Amino acid sequence: MSTVNFDQVLSATRATLERIATDFAPAVFASSLAAEDMVLTDLILKAKLPIKIFTLETGRLHAETLGVLDAIRSTYGTDLALYKPEPTAIATYVRENGLNAFYDSVEMRKECCRIRKVEPLNRALAGNKAWITGQRRAQSSTRSELAVQEDDAAHAMQKFNPLTNWTEEHVWHYIQSNEVPYNPLHDKGYPSIGCEPCTRAIQPGEDIRAGRWWWESPDTKECGLHVVDGKLIRIKPATNETTTP
Ligand code: ADX
Ligand code: SF4
Repeated sequence: MSTVNFDQVLSATRATLERIATDFAPAVFASSLAAEDMVLTDLILKAKLPIKIFTLETGRLHAETLGVLDAIRSTYGTDLALYKPEPTAIATYVRENGLNAFYDSVEMRKECCRIRKVEPLNRALAGNKAWITGQRRAQSSTRSELAVQEDDAAHAMQKFNPLTNWTEEHVWHYIQSNEVPYNPLHDKGYPSIGCEPCTRAIQPGEDIRAGRWWWESPDTKECGLHVVDGKLIRIKPATNETTTP
């Protein structure tokens, strides 16, 4: 890895975070507690930036992922804000379809993601000017056009991806050299971690997102939190149709 290149991406990321805190307050950071998000958490908390960090606690996360919340508390003395799904929406979904109906069809899977992730995300973002994610271009072909700053028209706010140009090697170099706590599942074949029933370990040589919703074809693997090819994938509550505005 070129140290020069690493130093450049790191200082650009620090500058982006400072700009967000100054020019786009109030801003929030959505942390899935995965490696990329731990880099941003470390940068935000060590610089004492006034950016609130939250996690969408879907109710289906791995115990190891929830353990990262404790690691953050003991390392930084900070608790992240947790946004949980509406209990009545979960109860209705489970009663009508079963707890694990997301394996039955793409529609059932997207409805579960809508209830457990998208609706809580909307609550977490309300009232803010900008939000931050840990997405990187190299993570997937759907993220190859990712920009550091995007106009998130659906939420009427700015969206920042400060790690856009980071490689996986950059991420782990930062984590190791700064002793940042991380999810132990990353050492067990999980480069990308979502909900427990929808994530599995990958085999050597597989795509880093191959373990996410592994039973679906690559073109449906989107939970509704992010844009694909510059278009927001929105899941309609009534029909579960996927639309692009
Ligand atoms: S996903 O769309 O496939 O689930 P991925 O797991 O790659 O996304 O995460 C990309 C970014 O989405 C993360 O860096 C984070 O900003 C946000 N994100 C994903 N899941 C969550 C979550 N449970 N809570 C908060 N933010 C999340
Ligand atoms: Fe539901 Fe799986 Fe989506 Fe999590 S990732 S919200 S369990 S369908």
